[in-house]
Amino acid sequence: MKKIFLISGLSVLFFINCSTPRTASNNSVSRGWINQNLAEAASQYKLLKANLPAGQLPRSTFENGTLRTCTSENWVSGFYPGTLVYLYETIKDTSLWNEAVRSANLLSKEQYNTGTHDLGFMMYCSYGNLYRLTNNEQYKQVLINSAKSLITRFNPAVGCIRSWGKSDDTKEFRVIIDNMMNLELLFRATELSGDSSFYKIAVTHANTTIRNHFRPDYSSYHVVNYNPLNGSVIYKKTAQGAADESAWARGQSWGLYGFTVMYRFTHDKKYLDQAQHIAQFLINHPNLPADKIPYWDYNAPGIPNAIRDASSGAILASALIELAGYSDKQQASNYRDIANTILKSLSAEPYKAAQGTNAGFILKHSVGSLPGKADVDVALNYADYYYVEALNRLKNLK
Ligand code: GLY
Repeated sequence: MKKIFLISGLSVLFFINCSTPRTASNNSVSRGWINQNLAEAASQYKLLKANLPAGQLPRSTFENGTLRTCTSENWVSGFYPGTLVYLYETIKDTSLWNEAVRSANLLSKEQYNTGTHDLGFMMYCSYGNLYRLTNNEQYKQVLINSAKSLITRFNPAVGCIRSWGKSDDTKEFRVIIDNMMNLELLFRATELSGDSSFYKIAVTHANTTIRNHFRPDYSSYHVVNYNPLNGSVIYKKTAQGAADESAWARGQSWGLYGFTVMYRFTHDKKYLDQAQHIAQFLINHPNLPADKIPYWDYNAPGIPNAIRDASSGAILASALIELAGYSDKQQASNYRDIANTILKSLSAEPYKAAQGTNAGFILKHSVGSLPGKADVDVALNYADYYYVEALNRLKNLK
């Protein structure tokens, strides 16, 4: 402590802020409570399955509460099979497993899709989870092929995987913070194939992202556009946030989750520091409400009447549970405390849907893209995915 007090007044404030739990740690949840919520989630997903037209995957709800579906090329296609695997893992109901396998099969052709950066979401959340429980060689090959497709979008001059646009576009090269979530697939592909090029690309992408996506307060921009020929930054903007300089809520959660995964695979303290700084920015943010479910943007106009984004809360909870495992006792207790508050909030009104409603989705009140007027204040399959993942992570700690 003494050494830290010598540094500067600002550092002292920062240190105190980082290390002091802001809420009481008597906020635990019981195994029975977790099991009850997972059982209710499984029963909702059986309803979702019953509602699905052939060949379709669930995406979200329309504003009137009916099911909105998508097909395999949509970036959210992998979350439904992935959620089913998580639910099967804890509930052990084979109908959940069979539906996970059936629905993942609908995505099989996407392993060769080089037109998207979202292959981590699509193929890792689905096939990655199937492989985790089976070690099935066929799933392993799908993961390796998906990683090969993803790295076709890597540009060494930029040091990033291209998010949006065509691979041969020489005018612009847009990278979104969400892309940090696709790196887990690359690390696993190196482990599964022995080819270190996937790992190296993941590390290069993360390092470029630290350099260019983050502001001094550890909030992040949504979109950075690079010159594809020399890697210089053309602009930093938002597409789904409230303003170019705002902190779009889901983007902040993606960054936190992504850098926590970076530390899991590399054990490089630089990534742990990055994740912890992002966590501090988020959990100490004056606009994070008492129930810890973020507004759709931390700088949304109209706060406290702005709408919330349950998906960013679910991702934040899941990331904090993992990050707690890499952090000192006091930080870990703070992270778990916030994660528990989020999960308790999501497991009650107004976020959790009554059984038999919400077209079969578990959660309500997420925001896809408010500026794009798409999926605003509705159920989203990725809110459910990270909510169930977080509950499983909590259960595994017990
Ligand atoms: N990756 C797109 C989103 O988070 O909305």
